[in-house]
Amino acid sequence: MTLSGRHVLLGVSGGIASYKTCMLARRFIEAGAAVDVVMTASAAQFVRPTTFEALIGRPVLTSLWERDRALAHISLSREPGLVVVAPATANLLARVAQGIADDLLTALLLARTGPVLVAPAMNDMMFAHPATGRNLELVENRGWSIIGPESGPLAEGSSDLPGRMSEPDAIFVAAERLLRQADSRLAGRRVLVTAGPTRELLDPIRVITNRSSGRMGFALARAAYARGADVTLIAGPTALAPPIGPDVMRVESTADLAEAVGNALPETDVLLMAAAPADYRPAAPESTKRRRSDGAIAVELHPSVDVLETTRSRRKGGSIAVGFAYETEHGIARARAKLERKGLDLVVLNLDEEGSGAEVETNRVTLVSADAAQELPLLPKSDAAERILDAVERLL
Ligand SMILES: Cc1cc2nc3c(=O)[nH]c(=O)nc-3n(C[C@H](O)[C@H](O)[C@H](O)COP(=O)(O)O)c2cc1C
Repeated sequence: MTLSGRHVLLGVSGGIASYKTCMLARRFIEAGAAVDVVMTASAAQFVRPTTFEALIGRPVLTSLWERDRALAHISLSREPGLVVVAPATANLLARVAQGIADDLLTALLLARTGPVLVAPAMNDMMFAHPATGRNLELVENRGWSIIGPESGPLAEGSSDLPGRMSEPDAIFVAAERLLRQADSRLAGRRVLVTAGPTRELLDPIRVITNRSSGRMGFALARAAYARGADVTLIAGPTALAPPIGPDVMRVESTADLAEAVGNALPETDVLLMAAAPADYRPAAPESTKRRRSDGAIAVELHPSVDVLETTRSRRKGGSIAVGFAYETEHGIARARAKLERKGLDLVVLNLDEEGSGAEVETNRVTLVSADAAQELPLLPKSDAAERILDAVERLL
């Protein structure tokens, strides 16, 4: 419920993509926001207001002339933390660019001084028209944020040119960031997150790796981006879809990870080392595939490079470094030893128990600092990520 206590106004204009705005309304409700919907008369030709009313649990407003809300355009311009216009038609952009206020949505947008996020959606030729380009530039120069449009399938066929509205998930992520960055100490900071396992080649096809799924690191990257940070995510091999927002770099081995982290560190304000690097690598990987018929084999393993240790000297002064530890015994003592040995500000200790740790959606972690150990309950990894970032913000 990352948006509980927040108020979002969704402005819907008359484009075919308005059916996707129903999904967007649902995302805001699921995140705990209070949502108002204002539709243009054309939008109501595409999706009936009843659909939105059922989703948001409030009346949808479509007219300036509601008897019981005579000044709705003024109150609705002031109250929401964010106004999201999705889809924004070519016509709506033209009206707001010129300061026309001939219906409830354009009137409230003219009175609006707070943040506005606009998601244009239209036929690719309409978007390519210089008039639309100029109108978009005008509203952008006034400080409104624009997301999309994307190229890809349109209602009338596929196009390589932009026109298609950004997906509801992407609009949600941009909106959440606009809402949350105002009161986060992570806003504008550079956050580096590592995630997932690494793997070391035994031969051209076989690897040594571990059970890390990357979920915890991906959740941290997503949450830090939502708080307004500039996030780089360095991820080992994982099948998870990367989060929307962060810059994503892929690495394979522990040595690749150490190199990528070392290169990014001089710019990094907060380092979150959630990856589980392979601790061992074969001393001499085979250049050809081993065959079973060759019989039993013994593989000599050498410790791989210690990423935190080798990159320590490149950390920016005043930056915060958070390590992660998975222990099967002596958890807190080992986490604290790691904290001291590696010069960390916090160690997130994963407990080895049912429902927590690698490959599952939930985690029970203890936040270990020099003088405290805060045990958190079993939480979805997205919630654990928020709690870890709360602790990081306290350190900042
Ligand atoms: C089937 C259909 C689909 C349309 N899709 C779009 C669209 O995706 N984007 C757009 O800018 N206009 C679209 N239009 C045109 C707008 O509905 C029209 O310009 C209208 O005046 C917009 O009014 P509004 O901006 O007040 O909502 C579409 C019209 C029709 C009939």
